[in-house]
Amino acid sequence: MAKLWGGRFQKSTDKKVDDFNSSIRFDKRMYKQDIKGSVAHATMLGRQNIIPKEDSDKIVAELKNILNDIEDGKVEFEIDAEDIHMNIEKILIERIGDAGKRLHTGRSRNDQVALDIRMYLMDETADIEEMLIHTLNVLVDLASDHTETIMPGYTHLQKAQPVTFAHHLMAYFEMFKRDLSRLRDCRKRTNVMPLGSGALAGTTYPLDREFVASELGFDAVTMNSLDGVSDRDFVIELANCLALVMMHLSRFCEELILWSSNEFSFVEMDDASTGSSIMPQKKNPDVAELIRGKAGRVYGHLMGLLTTMKGIPLAYNKDMQEDKEPIFDSIDTVKLCLPVFCDMIATMTVKKDNMLKGSKGGFTNATDVADYLVKKGLPFREAHAVVGRMVFYSIEHDKALDDLTMDEFKEFSDIIEDDIYNAISMETCVNDRKVIGGPAKEVVEKAIADAKEFLAQQ
Ligand code: ARG
Repeated sequence: MAKLWGGRFQKSTDKKVDDFNSSIRFDKRMYKQDIKGSVAHATMLGRQNIIPKEDSDKIVAELKNILNDIEDGKVEFEIDAEDIHMNIEKILIERIGDAGKRLHTGRSRNDQVALDIRMYLMDETADIEEMLIHTLNVLVDLASDHTETIMPGYTHLQKAQPVTFAHHLMAYFEMFKRDLSRLRDCRKRTNVMPLGSGALAGTTYPLDREFVASELGFDAVTMNSLDGVSDRDFVIELANCLALVMMHLSRFCEELILWSSNEFSFVEMDDASTGSSIMPQKKNPDVAELIRGKAGRVYGHLMGLLTTMKGIPLAYNKDMQEDKEPIFDSIDTVKLCLPVFCDMIATMTVKKDNMLKGSKGGFTNATDVADYLVKKGLPFREAHAVVGRMVFYSIEHDKALDDLTMDEFKEFSDIIEDDIYNAISMETCVNDRKVIGGPAKEVVEKAIADAKEFLAQQ
């Protein structure tokens, strides 16, 4: 088959090489952006009298037909036409002849692909931002139900101090909120229009780059033609943002997996679990495990992209075609994971009693007993030592600190009075921590109210 660039060649390329070079398999998903970009380019060529106005009109009209035909499933792409750019141009030329042959005036596939990928990534980023906003809503709704659900907080995976499930959920709210802001920040640098960079050195035609940028909704145009065609920073930045989203999902999933175990038994998955083909008693948290597992491939894509770009001399090199599969897979993976994650946490059963029971074991109120003694006048170091002895005694007698009788307490310090029980109850331990960002009910309620206000503005 004749190639659009076949003029310089004496013999046709080997089939294996054609297959090897071709990116249509994976870049066909950018058809909409490619056509949109070509419509803007052709319109500009007509306005600038670089091509006849009738030809520009014909191109624009036929590109719209091609778009509809693709969407109706009437177009078969060809491996021989290499990529989405040449496939669409070829169809255009088949349909409108010479006018179609004028479309590529003042343009190279190098700036064309740079344009398409920027537009595609911005469209996908908008979808992911929506999904993150939904995730934030799910977290806040769940948190609203659990401002009194006391659970143990951990450091080193050892019980440390009691918090509430709402406080724990709102920690993830903060993470995903940062992800949202990171994506928006990344979009600013993606939102720059490269068309007009040509193959690498711009063009002699009087292109109106600003017009094309405004037609396509870009905020600015790229300022150096070499960089315009060879910059893929925005791809790597997005890969990084997505890796962080997966890291946050994966951490929560790891917790859910632990919490679903018989040892914790803090939550029970609803649909997000499966049975075992051999062990009848099993209910496995597969969804959480799969999300945790998928974080690996998204991290891998980030490293792969950095490595692909590291040795590429300016400007465009074919290596850069390798930017697409990884970033597409990172996008697909995040878009797959976020909704199932939301459904999973919205439908799981939260076993409040077990969480409370868990917070009572492990002496999570030891700091509060020491603080109690300090408030009664004991220096903190002494109080620390007294409580250390109490903990040792309690372990020996298989008791929690708040299970000790008044006589037992008096053995350790005679300044202890009846008010100790209230001072070291799990509720007090949580609700006295009123510092900004703390787990006290009123503080978390304020955090939830602020979160709802933030979400109402999105
Ligand atoms: N399919 C190519 C890519 O994804 C488009 C640019 C091709 N340019 C070229 N000079 N071969 O990068």
